[in-house]
Amino acid sequence: MLVTGVVLLLFVIFHVLDLTTGTSPAAPDGFQAATHETSHAYSNLVDSFSRWPASLIYIAAMVALALHLLHGLVSAVYDMGVGVGSKARNILSAVALLVALLVALGNITIPVAVLTGLIS
Ligand code: HEM
Repeated sequence: MLVTGVVLLLFVIFHVLDLTTGTSPAAPDGFQAATHETSHAYSNLVDSFSRWPASLIYIAAMVALALHLLHGLVSAVYDMGVGVGSKARNILSAVALLVALLVALGNITIPVAVLTGLIS
């Protein structure tokens, strides 16, 4: 939890520099800051993920997110006092795995869609 938590903290810092503040070198060249009238979130995102090292950072961070979510959710089930080996615990652990996988894989589709040219 500590390792994946620190990785996620570093990821969030990188992520905000990349897509919110547009700070170099995290952000792509040509980053366009949002104004009260317009947002360039889409083009900034495509520009960022078109750089494969940036996409790799996001994909690695999503693996850390999945592990963190899985462990956190399973721990929450244990903390609720559901009995060891009970059917309820097995079901809740399976749900935790499903949630962690859905969140991580769902997010990973975004850099993959840019890298493969599916969205541009
Ligand atoms: C591949 C996964 C992700 C994608 C594609 C993504 C995309 C984005 C984009 C496009 C923005 C800027 C929105 C804007 O300027 O209007 C943003 C902001 C942000 N994201 Fe993500 N994000 C992802 C994962 C995450 C995760 C896992 C976290 C937290 C653990 C996170 C936390 C944030 C934060 C704190 C902001 C700043 C919000 C703000 O500017 O008000 N993101 N994200």
